[in-house]
Amino acid sequence: MQIAVDKIRATEYATDLLVVGVYQGAKKLIGPAADLDKALEGVIFELSKEQGFEGKKNEVLLIQSRGKIPAKRVLAIGLGHNKNVDDAVYREAAATVIKEAAKLRCKNIAFALTTNSRKRSAVRAMAMAIAEGVLLGAYRYEEFHSEQKKSESEKTRVELCVLLATNAAEGNVQKEGVAEGVLRAQAVTLARDLVNTPSADMTPGHLVSVAEKIATENKSITLEVYDRERARELKMGSFLGVARGSDEPPYFIHLTYKPRAKSKKKIFLCGKGITFDTGGISLKPAAALEQWPMHSDMAGAAAILGVFSVVAQLGIDVEVHAALPCTENMPSGKALKPHDILRAMNGKTIEVLNTDAEGRLVLADALSFAVQQKADAIVDLATLTGACVLALGSDYAGLFSNDEKLTKRIANAANITGERVWAMPMPEEYKRGLKSPVADLKNVGPRMDADAITAALFLQEFVGTTPWVHLDIAGPAWVDNPHRPSNSARGTGYGVRLLLEYLKGL
Ligand code: BES
Ligand code: ZN
Ligand code: ZN
Repeated sequence: MQIAVDKIRATEYATDLLVVGVYQGAKKLIGPAADLDKALEGVIFELSKEQGFEGKKNEVLLIQSRGKIPAKRVLAIGLGHNKNVDDAVYREAAATVIKEAAKLRCKNIAFALTTNSRKRSAVRAMAMAIAEGVLLGAYRYEEFHSEQKKSESEKTRVELCVLLATNAAEGNVQKEGVAEGVLRAQAVTLARDLVNTPSADMTPGHLVSVAEKIATENKSITLEVYDRERARELKMGSFLGVARGSDEPPYFIHLTYKPRAKSKKKIFLCGKGITFDTGGISLKPAAALEQWPMHSDMAGAAAILGVFSVVAQLGIDVEVHAALPCTENMPSGKALKPHDILRAMNGKTIEVLNTDAEGRLVLADALSFAVQQKADAIVDLATLTGACVLALGSDYAGLFSNDEKLTKRIANAANITGERVWAMPMPEEYKRGLKSPVADLKNVGPRMDADAITAALFLQEFVGTTPWVHLDIAGPAWVDNPHRPSNSARGTGYGVRLLLEYLKGL
């Protein structure tokens, strides 16, 4: 889909579907909605009354224009109460619209939305949110569809989406917003595609090829890949322990983005990259493997690759690193066994009691690596525990941290992008559960007893005093029935926009 900006009055614009915003509880229509109502001889106002359309968030009202204006139809989209309108409202409204447009088989659509404030930043943010919303709402994963199924789907695809500006200056600001929104949505799309791809095709080697493509296309990004041999030299015993059972070669991916002006800050993004989690020798039961999509256990790594695919174009001016331990977790004759003891990169030894708690094992080395590289801050994303899904569901990531300032930054970014986080406690006392008689740590605590917190406490052992946030994204990384229009079913790309927003704010 192409997204463009045009300076023209809504009442004069020819399109399949012209979109106007309506506020809930408002006495009269305002802005482009009022102009169009006039051109259509009051039909928007009348139909709203007749059909009980109140302008609630994402509520829609379709009006045939019957030749009174060049646009074939007008779609009124509810924006909720005027005073509560923020980026998320525009984003979800745009995603709702694109789905309606698909149902109506529109090829081109136009948005005639105006912001309450005429401020440059508000206009830019609205345009960005609309661009994100239409692209994210239109996302479909059709890699494995037959040609016939694909061409059916093609018929319900919008080709052109135009934002109408009231003057040239506003148009230029909107163009800027659209450009950034498109980049952000592209990054999310990449993450979604990676997460949705079955494990047979999305191996650690495939993730390396994605990283290679990113590094080749961006001069400011360099790539270092550690295979089994080189990871052994780095003493990544914990990561290699998990990888032991797999025939698919494991890779530890290290990407570095250096901004043009030398940066004083070094941010590390660590992502769990388990391309399939069978549980290993502590094998998951068949029903669990059927219910949980364990090829999505690399969603943390996927989100970070998404970030890196646009980090240079977005002109982020801090040094950003990605540390992505990528492997399958498989049972086999060579596999890691319960009661085996591993030595992580930072020298700590781990008694493995459950090979299904493998995410924390691979992250132990990724976090140690970040600390060794003198990271100023670490953010890790991991589909780490089923317990976090039970606690927070699919709309919130669990946030665990050793640093208030970093927590605030991440929570702020999450507020802006609508990727919700919920701060969880990390009580010192619970560390007792990780004590081992034979090693520095066990990899699991007492089961069904704060599993998500225990996992975070385990990770904390590997970050030292470096400011760190851990996001347990097991819930929001994959959703079966999304309850917001901008989310696709299955892989969501959760975390991509949040991380970009965080990096931009530094
Ligand atoms: N990848 C899983 C966590 C998961 C479960 C993600 C469901 C998404 C949906 C992780 O590696 C795992 O198996 N965790 C165990 C930990 C337990 C053994 C302490 C879990 O949550 O059951
Ligand atoms: Zn597991
Ligand atoms: Zn896992």
